[in-house]
Amino acid sequence: MSSQVDFGLGLRPEHYEEIVASPGKVSWFEALSENYMVKGGLPLYWLDRIRRDYPMALHGVSLSIGTTDPLDTAYLDELKALSDRVQPMWVSDHLCFTGLRGLNMHDLLPLPYTEEALNHVAERVQRVQDHLGRRLVLENVSSYVTYAASELSEWEFIAALSERADCEILLDVNNVYVSAFNHEFDALAFLRAMPRARVRQFHLAGHLHKGSHIIDTHDHPIVPDVWDLYAEAVKLFPGVPTMIERDADIPPYAELLAELDVARGIAARVAGQEAHEVAA
Ligand SMILES: [Fe+2]
Repeated sequence: MSSQVDFGLGLRPEHYEEIVASPGKVSWFEALSENYMVKGGLPLYWLDRIRRDYPMALHGVSLSIGTTDPLDTAYLDELKALSDRVQPMWVSDHLCFTGLRGLNMHDLLPLPYTEEALNHVAERVQRVQDHLGRRLVLENVSSYVTYAASELSEWEFIAALSERADCEILLDVNNVYVSAFNHEFDALAFLRAMPRARVRQFHLAGHLHKGSHIIDTHDHPIVPDVWDLYAEAVKLFPGVPTMIERDADIPPYAELLAELDVARGIAARVAGQEAHEVAA
């Protein structure tokens, strides 16, 4: 098994047995935090079993870092307990809010990109980091709306937040592509604005193109345009660990491994080109 943390997959129950039966196909897994914030039972059995053989990252969807509701300290306590158990490489969630005034919208909603929101989120990130005793990694979301109140671009907001709150960035290349199409911005400008030292991880995923807009469904293979954007991301941020997210219509493990091989091939090709340019 490679000791280098480079290409990984999302840990999904459909693949538990095969992961254990065929070791060494990936170098790490990303586990969905909320699925394992339970008292016991099979999910934790499999998590501990697979963690023995692989480094892991924890990825959550319920932190709601951007809401104006108070921080959910019970949730943070559970996340901290899981983090103590798993000893993950890092803990991530999304730059979004998932509800307001106690109402859960069950969606990852974008924030208005204002100075006021930046101050608000930066202060909350620092409190979460203090609570967890580690840096938080925040992911750019796919979005379908923007706010007239926004004063900054999404990429300016994320870059500023990462510096101000001293947090890191999970760069979801598919989400950049989806939001760039939906809001007609330049995906490359987004990538180029990310502070190099703060990009901790890449996500790749498939989406559903509806012609006038794209929906981030995580139920399809990655499309060629997203692979092209991934090549640009690898060029800008070499050596950043990559993983593929599939959350619905989960294919056989072998199919995701084959898709991960495409990512490996692109990263190797980009590294080869860069080495050639340096030598020339
Ligand atoms: Fe993602």
